[in-house]
Amino acid sequence: MAYYEIDRQGQLKREVWFELPYYCMMHDFGLTEHYAVFHVVPIVGSWERLRAGLPHFGFDTTQPIYLGVLPREGTAADIRWFTAPNCFASHVMNAFEEGTKVHFDVPMAKGNAFPFFPDVHGAEFDPHKAHCYLTRWTVDMASRGEAFEGMKRLAELSGEFPRIDDRYTSQPYRFGFMLAQDFSRPLQLPGGRSATGMMMNLLAGIDHASGTVQTYWAGPTSTLQEPCVIPKSPTAPEGDGYLVTVANRLAEGRSDLLIFDAQRLTEGPIATVKLELRLRPALHGNWAPESQLQRPGTAVTT
Ligand SMILES: [Fe+2]
Repeated sequence: MAYYEIDRQGQLKREVWFELPYYCMMHDFGLTEHYAVFHVVPIVGSWERLRAGLPHFGFDTTQPIYLGVLPREGTAADIRWFTAPNCFASHVMNAFEEGTKVHFDVPMAKGNAFPFFPDVHGAEFDPHKAHCYLTRWTVDMASRGEAFEGMKRLAELSGEFPRIDDRYTSQPYRFGFMLAQDFSRPLQLPGGRSATGMMMNLLAGIDHASGTVQTYWAGPTSTLQEPCVIPKSPTAPEGDGYLVTVANRLAEGRSDLLIFDAQRLTEGPIATVKLELRLRPALHGNWAPESQLQRPGTAVTT
């Protein structure tokens, strides 16, 4: 695997090559003040799978997971690997340090959450084990051995696509947002769910300080796309901002952009932009201020 660090001017600052415990789909990672943190989860592939005409990736329930912690100023020799029993995780909400501890917040499932990456040993997809719950993985850089210090569930919501106020990336933070699935709500989804087959009908805001969770239900014929946090100003305190998401209006074949007060999700959108075209029911979303879009050499999309 190669880790690259690129500065604001688009210049390559650092390039570190290292070996993973096994080949996997490396889909996201976390940053803290001093470390880059990589979760190795057994969404695996092999030449044998490709030769057999199987999907590139499959899930292997027999492999442990790993968390690789690379000092941001270090080399491949400095990376430290921690390990834990088999589970599933994909997108990272945030990571940060607390003394010698590294916290890594990620929606985590007991089993494979991706039906399109079938079990490599042939097991049937189990939707009950596919529910992802936001969980804090903690490792201690002052510890010996390879064990995690802990895994703590942060919210009782089944969901994914976690986001924060991006100004707090790599730092301690209070507010997290994600999409969630509430199967107890009425559901009629003409035209399908999303590109992944996941039904995301709730927008959720998690206050890590108080432990409270706010939700907004999109209605029986709508699903939501990944939300983005927009601070009210560059110096606004964390949480003082807006949350935006695209709503897929499946019954009408339309899309709306919903704008919420990030502190008052349950009250519903404060503004709805009725888009004149239907956007595909996609996965990821990003937002950038106009000032950043106009600055040459600034990457605005991922
Ligand atoms: Fe993704």
